[in-house]
Amino acid sequence: MKVVETIAEMRRLRLELTEPVGFVPTMGYLHDGHLALVKRARAENPSVVVSLFVNPTQFGPQEDFASYPRATRRDLTMLEKGKTDIVFMPSVAEVYPPQFDSWVEVGKISQRLEGAARPAHFRGVTTVVAKLFNIVQPAKAYFGQKDAQQVVVIRKMVTDLNMNLEVVTCPTVREPDGLAMSSRNTYLNPEERRAAVVLYESLKLAQRQWSQGEKDAAKLRQTMTALIQKQPLATIDYVSIADNETLEELDKVKPPALVSLAVKIGKTRLIDNVILE
Ligand code: PAJ
Repeated sequence: MKVVETIAEMRRLRLELTEPVGFVPTMGYLHDGHLALVKRARAENPSVVVSLFVNPTQFGPQEDFASYPRATRRDLTMLEKGKTDIVFMPSVAEVYPPQFDSWVEVGKISQRLEGAARPAHFRGVTTVVAKLFNIVQPAKAYFGQKDAQQVVVIRKMVTDLNMNLEVVTCPTVREPDGLAMSSRNTYLNPEERRAAVVLYESLKLAQRQWSQGEKDAAKLRQTMTALIQKQPLATIDYVSIADNETLEELDKVKPPALVSLAVKIGKTRLIDNVILE
């Protein structure tokens, strides 16, 4: 496994890889959710590149860029075991030199849900992912369903800008109690960690009611909201039932529909989702 910190070196080593190349972009502090993407990339491609880069432009000014958890040595050990060929871990200055001033922006669907709560978040995500695609030039790139809107936005960017690669979505990996794995779960104290299961419980409740015949999206949002509000440590940011492509809110559930939510547990903001299909 080669660990590379500059774009020039990444491009040079890229030439020696056997095609096709599978690529997994991450911000590090890896867990089994990330490793599932690496495993899938490994199974489908002779070469695998993983990036570790905490991307400052996707964090808002009040957000956790500075405190975002980092554990590079541990990440590298995990990636070595996962049979990664190249780890690309550039510095912020390498990716965003002082004169940097170009952005990739996907329209309407970037403004909804996470985009409404976190303005400029997706502009940062699409800009860095477009840059990474240009540097790594993968045939396939792997993303988690955990960040449902991110996948929808990246697919849209790839289609609209004719990027020459396939986007592969991998299922959300969960803890035994159902909490979606996330680098941010590390912020939770033991009491908050127990409370955090309410996100998945509310998603399962919506899924159950829908499969029993409830098609009214407002009613489903309401039952989810009521369940979450019973958890004293939880504060709802949004509960959404939307079309899985346009991300527009639905009145009547028409599959495939994306049920997604953002909830603060104490000070930690968590997101999760399921698809009704
Ligand atoms: P990060 O949060 O590190 O996630 C990297 C990838 O792992 C994303 O595609 C994310 O959806 C996936 N992932 C995270 N938790 C998961 C889980 N529990 N199950 C399955 N997949 C999971 O997402 C980002 O980084 C950044 O926005 C990035 C795309 C790297 C751009 O900076």
